[in-house]
Amino acid sequence: MKIAILPGDGIGPEIVAEAVKVLKALDLRFESETALVGGCAYDAHGHPLPEATLKLAKEADAVLFGAVGDWKYDTLDRPLRPEQAILGLRKNLGLFANFRPAICYPQLVSASSLRPELVAGLDLLIIRELTGDIYFGQPRGRRIAPDGAFAGAEEAFDTMRYTRPEIERIAHVAFKAARQRGRRVTSVDKANVLETFQFWKDVVTEVGKQYPDVALDHMYVDNAAMQLVKEPKKFDVIVTGNMFGDILSDAAAMLTGSIGMLPSASLNASNQGLYEPSHGSAPDIAGKGVANPLATILSAAMMLRFSLNQAEAADRIESAVQAVLASGLRTGDIHAEGCKRVGTREMGDAVVAAITKKTSKG
Ligand code: IPM
Ligand code: MG
Repeated sequence: MKIAILPGDGIGPEIVAEAVKVLKALDLRFESETALVGGCAYDAHGHPLPEATLKLAKEADAVLFGAVGDWKYDTLDRPLRPEQAILGLRKNLGLFANFRPAICYPQLVSASSLRPELVAGLDLLIIRELTGDIYFGQPRGRRIAPDGAFAGAEEAFDTMRYTRPEIERIAHVAFKAARQRGRRVTSVDKANVLETFQFWKDVVTEVGKQYPDVALDHMYVDNAAMQLVKEPKKFDVIVTGNMFGDILSDAAAMLTGSIGMLPSASLNASNQGLYEPSHGSAPDIAGKGVANPLATILSAAMMLRFSLNQAEAADRIESAVQAVLASGLRTGDIHAEGCKRVGTREMGDAVVAAITKKTSKG
């Protein structure tokens, strides 16, 4: 097994270090290599996704990714900004299927911005298509408007598009995932306005016929946003396009009160994957040793399960995290009365201790 480790910017290096520590505590045999990505790669090599980093990622079985970005890069030309590294990895590795679970841990119910009864037991999975849509559609650019009411004025444009195979493959991923859970899929679209998403809806409906045991419904994206904050427990699996998935997954993550806890996985057709926390690089707290490493540690667990065929090791990480939360340790972002506030490293150490304790008991 070969893991490419890309810590990135901001809190990335701190949280990834804890996840690596946890992986090492499992006594698995794996090779790993670390490389620069994002703003730090731009600083060192003039590009956020250097050739060597991309090569390493392509050759690995899995990529463990921290986070990229810092305000100080906001004035760079778009192709040189840190975010381009993650977009480039997605495109070059064909990572079209993005899994973003939103789980409300019982111990953290009070950290949600919604009333406890609305989120207690929440367990929904957003499956976001990740390599198509308006994110990558061509043509795009700036020009002088050739027509319309403002012909002759400066304009910018992007292209929203999906081909049938792109929709089919993400729909299959969603229906298969639903079979492992509550057997319900909600496909989110904007078919009332957009041609692209009428097509999306039609294709998802067709694919759904191959999964008679999974209930499929359709929801417009504006309504889905509303339902997510009104009655989030109604959802099981949400499948949607790249743009809508970007927005809805942040909303869903926040419902759990613990974006610092949520892992994510982005997979290609051969189960090669990139694993990263759902949160960003948090430059405001970088280097202070206070960031929550649990989302990254749980991303490492997802990596073991999805790409490295080590489900048992993944279970061990997940139960260790549960045990640590149950013992009352909390980083600042999820701190509550009566709990013990710890830093990044102490949290990682506690997970390692919980794993080692379980092992020595047999
Ligand atoms: C995400 C992020 C990225 C996206 C950015 C950093 C390019 O917001 O993973 O959700 O828009 O996909
Ligand atoms: Mg986003």
